[in-house]
Amino acid sequence: MKNILVVGGAGYIGSHTVKMLAEKGYNPVVYDNLSKGHKEAVEGFAFEEGDLGDKARLADVFKKHQIEAVMHFAAFIEVGESVKEPSKYYHNNVAKVLNLLDAMKDAGVKYFVFSSTAATFGEPVKNKIDETHPQLPINPYGNTKLMVEKMLEDFDRAYGLKAVALRYFNASGADDSGHIGESHSPETHLIPLVLQAAAGKRPSIKIFGNDYPTPDGTCIRDYVHVNDLARAHILALEKMEKENQSLRYNLGSGSGYSVAELIKEAKAVTGIDFKVETEGRRAGDPAVLVADPAKAERELGWKPQYGLRKIIETAWNWEKNRRF
Ligand code: UFG
Repeated sequence: MKNILVVGGAGYIGSHTVKMLAEKGYNPVVYDNLSKGHKEAVEGFAFEEGDLGDKARLADVFKKHQIEAVMHFAAFIEVGESVKEPSKYYHNNVAKVLNLLDAMKDAGVKYFVFSSTAATFGEPVKNKIDETHPQLPINPYGNTKLMVEKMLEDFDRAYGLKAVALRYFNASGADDSGHIGESHSPETHLIPLVLQAAAGKRPSIKIFGNDYPTPDGTCIRDYVHVNDLARAHILALEKMEKENQSLRYNLGSGSGYSVAELIKEAKAVTGIDFKVETEGRRAGDPAVLVADPAKAERELGWKPQYGLRKIIETAWNWEKNRRF
């Protein structure tokens, strides 16, 4: 039985991965300071409350649970906030991760799975973003994630610490059980906001810009289900350990949908004709962000199993019955 420390395991993508790790026979141990995460999301799993910056606590937890690998989900994720408060982002997303990696090195833990992001690529220079695309982030959030990717390359060369960097596109949807799902505060992501408008919890959904160079003028994104992401973490961990090498993958479906298309699909799924308004562009939004997931398919045998319809259905099921 492999003991995996899931840092940020009480958060959105972390909690779905914890559940799947357990289903696949692993023994996940959640490490979370509950600043953003939800204890209810990991009921029944080993839980250690602690901060990423607390090296002594990490050392204790590594020893107590005989940890063999770490998955790291505990990051701040809002692009706009990162522009206004870069210090907060560099502390949490870089300095504290260095602390975690040092703690791993000291404890002899050799395997790391890192949540990176499409934001490390910046403005796309090709239609679909593969792993050879230049990494030129355009905001502090993307910078912090790219810095950790670079740190990981150096830690591998110097200390033999192996890592997988997984660049997510738009994580979305909820577990089919309806017991866990997306819950950010404040919520900034399109799908939960759209569904809250459908549920009458918000007066409307506002489209940020309809003058982009796309067929309907609204931004195109690549939505990938949180359980497909969770599965990719486990496949990547297994390959990294088997081959004892560091890896990187772009995780998206390879298909893009515009904001307007997504709203139309959400109206079809919910059967509710909620109010839609158009506002100006949100700073820092590229017109199109779509992954080329061919490498993950080829090397991991990973193919998303949830399409946009299923993503919205599971998110709607969560929104209607959410517990936190
Ligand atoms: N959008 C709206 N109205 C809203 C919210 C969003 O029109 O109320 C639009 C955005 O402008 C964007 C699209 O919906 O075009 C998707 O926006 P999200 O905020 O849901 O997602 P992003 O593509 O901005 O962000 C995602 C991740 C981030 C990550 C980023 C990397 O959620 O954590 O990709 O590019 F930083």
